[in-house]
Amino acid sequence: MNAHSVTASAPGKLMLLGEHAVVYGRPCIVTAVDQRMRATVERIDNPSFILHAPDVGLEEYHLALADITNAEIPKGARFLVEALQQFRVAHPFDGGIRVRTSSDFSSHFGFGSSSASTIAFLRAIDACIGTHLDLRTLFELAFAVVLAVQKTGSGFDVAAATWGGTLHYARGGEIATALPNHSFSLVVGYTGVKVETAPVVHRIREESLRDGGRIERLYDAMATVTAKGVTAFSHADWPAFGVLMDEQQALLRDLGVSSDVLERCILAAKQAGALGAKLSGTGIGDCMIALGTPETVPAIMDAITAAGGIILPVRVQAPAVRLE
Ligand code: MEV
Repeated sequence: MNAHSVTASAPGKLMLLGEHAVVYGRPCIVTAVDQRMRATVERIDNPSFILHAPDVGLEEYHLALADITNAEIPKGARFLVEALQQFRVAHPFDGGIRVRTSSDFSSHFGFGSSSASTIAFLRAIDACIGTHLDLRTLFELAFAVVLAVQKTGSGFDVAAATWGGTLHYARGGEIATALPNHSFSLVVGYTGVKVETAPVVHRIREESLRDGGRIERLYDAMATVTAKGVTAFSHADWPAFGVLMDEQQALLRDLGVSSDVLERCILAAKQAGALGAKLSGTGIGDCMIALGTPETVPAIMDAITAAGGIILPVRVQAPAVRLE
């Protein structure tokens, strides 16, 4: 069998506007960041899946493909095992797969490491097997994988990893429109608190069933903010976009997903001249983002650091999934 290996990489993501509401059908704006996940894939004769993923503590994890649907899969292997299984069902091939993954970033940061590694893995298998799937098909496959493993999610992180740049996006790819490739100055502060998305989404869903429409109204307000955000972003109107980030943060606070450390970093960024600042993604911890200008970025970084945040140097508008 041809033993050549193929490496693909995919970017992480940061949510600019619309988190949480996007799980319930309202659109969001997401940008891809230049922190990438890599997957190097090789076909092997043995009908097995062999994974080397030191970033998640797995060395030479071995699974016979005959056991793929009934084995107890370790956490760090679940997305790739599910991806391989779904790929093989849609596009059967002989033999097995050996894969090595590596990451530019810690899975703690909420940059979407599982989604980025899933799409990088699928892209590399596709190239190895020669199926020549287009990006939309890869996105749909990866979104199905993420839903099968996580049971919840809008797929915005899969979309950012697939198409890169900045996207206007609605759940399942119902909207996945590239916004202009403007450069903008985003500062990212990590709170030091790792957050699992699924339990937070689950908690809010439970609250929403009891609260007589209040949370639905928050989601509608977020949709209005995102719609205005598409216009502001398209015109590179950063002061207007900053105001919308602040509005989204106020709505997220009402939703109950902000926290003291997030609020401290956000306030510090605003006092240092940020045009807008908000949590990005799930909330509770993870990252906050602040929109600045090239002139104000250093002061914003210092202010976030003094407030207890850890600056993560990332570039936005990162390129799509690609073969290396
Ligand atoms: C998590 O980073 C963002 C959420 O909107 C969940 C999702 O869109 O899948 C809370």
